[in-house]
Amino acid sequence: MEWIKVASADELGNDEAKTVGAGPYSLALYRIEDEFFATEGMCTHGKALLSEGWVEDGCIECPLHQGRFDIRTGKAMCAPVTVDLRTFAVKREGDDVYVGLPPAP
Ligand code: FES
Repeated sequence: MEWIKVASADELGNDEAKTVGAGPYSLALYRIEDEFFATEGMCTHGKALLSEGWVEDGCIECPLHQGRFDIRTGKAMCAPVTVDLRTFAVKREGDDVYVGLPPAP
């Protein structure tokens, strides 16, 4: 797995999200209870950036049609979303937040 620094920890408060780039991926990075998580950045239902949605109770609500995903698992939680989000490994070292990318096929 290749680890890429995507942010400094202080760029995100709890229950916030931001779009970050990691290699070929555009991801949504989240901070929940001082832990960091990452999913693919685009909603699986349409063309909406999840980082522009709302983080609540460990879920991200899409800003376009209010579909919700579990941030930790990527699971699609309610209509209209039905396809889960891809999730990515995240680690924190000091103030630096890294996302783990799978090896190229
Ligand atoms: S684009 Fe996200 S719920 Fe429709």
